[in-house]
Amino acid sequence: MRIAATLKTAYSNALIWNYQSLKQKTASSTQKRYAKNHMLVLGIESSCDETGVALYDTQHGLLAHALHSQIDMHAAYGGVVPELASRDHIRRAIPLTQQVLQQANKTLQAIEGIAYTQGPGLAGALLVGTSIAQSLAMALGVPCVGVHHLEGHLLAPLLEEDPPAFPFVALLVSGGHSQLMRIDGIGQYQLLGDTLDDAAGEAFDKTAKLLGLGYPGGPALAQLAQQGRARFQLPRPLLNSPDLNFSFSGLKTAVLTLVNQQSTLDITTMQDIAWEFQEAVTDILTKKCLKALKQTKLKRLVVSGGVGANRRLRERLNLETAVRGLSVSYPRLEFCTDNGAMIAFAGAMRLKDMQPQVSDYSFNVRPRWDLAELQSPK
Ligand SMILES: Nc1ncnc2c1ncn2[C@@H]1O[C@H](COP(=O)(O)OP(=O)(O)OP(=O)(O)O)[C@@H](O)[C@H]1O
Ligand SMILES: [Mg+2]
Repeated sequence: MRIAATLKTAYSNALIWNYQSLKQKTASSTQKRYAKNHMLVLGIESSCDETGVALYDTQHGLLAHALHSQIDMHAAYGGVVPELASRDHIRRAIPLTQQVLQQANKTLQAIEGIAYTQGPGLAGALLVGTSIAQSLAMALGVPCVGVHHLEGHLLAPLLEEDPPAFPFVALLVSGGHSQLMRIDGIGQYQLLGDTLDDAAGEAFDKTAKLLGLGYPGGPALAQLAQQGRARFQLPRPLLNSPDLNFSFSGLKTAVLTLVNQQSTLDITTMQDIAWEFQEAVTDILTKKCLKALKQTKLKRLVVSGGVGANRRLRERLNLETAVRGLSVSYPRLEFCTDNGAMIAFAGAMRLKDMQPQVSDYSFNVRPRWDLAELQSPK
């Protein structure tokens, strides 16, 4: 059956069936599927400017994943344009779903559960993934679960071979978040520290903008820093504070002052500023991670989110944990930023442990959603 046809069927079925018969139909098929000891889960990510789709099998692991990034489309505007993002998700989501099914050599009917990013994110963009996920799930008679985007990021390192066991300390450093958490299991997240202002990724992006690099500037700034050397001195806000919080906006302002002091912003100067900025962020993140491990007496650190792709940060964390007999894990580079695999995985973990329940297949998105509200599925 073609996916477009399935979606059409889903919508027309919704009009024909009354709620009660839908409830009965869903309950019986859901129960039947939960009785199986493994599950094939389709994951759909559409919270911002990347459409990600993946198939995760609870027994055989990740079978396929595909991603379309909208960066080129938004670059001309210097940031994400929400309406353009939603429209592009509509164009991409179904072809990407067809692509992962083909890659994994699976049919649509083989899908036993669907996970989608329910929030936080852009409302219109979230609605695209949600409506496709819920419609497909209703047409196939399979359970559907909304995943918290940050839970997806947090659990992404568990997709790798030899995944770290619970409990561990997680450093989530993305475009919108800089948090340290104690993770005791799925849905058992305790916030240890947070940013008081900008996120680490945001600081990379804003500093890159000051240096005239494109959007998003984080990776370009990191690349520039590779050729830089120690020449300037930037502050390390909250480096020695007794808590586990971060603050990055002062660092960005210090870069602005430094840039304004330069008579010319030649390439060498830009490289040296980028080098010092990256060192400052790395110093802060490394020190706070070590402090969190010490405070919690845990031995494992897990890093996720886009800034987790930063080579210098990985180098420092690898070194500092190794000399202390601690371990550190990361997702593969492509799963640091938004992707469908992390949503399929987090959804599979939740579906696997959830009691059979009836879904009303409503299009319920949560553009603002505190991770602390999440509960363990058990
Ligand atoms: N190599 C790198 N070095 C530093 N920063 C990087 C690197 N690669 C990506 N980033 C930054 O990571 C961020 C994107 O990460 P991610 O996709 O996890 O964030 P997001 O999804 O936008 O935010 P959130 O998940 O908090 O809503 C951007 O700010 C980008 O500049
Ligand atoms: Mg993200």
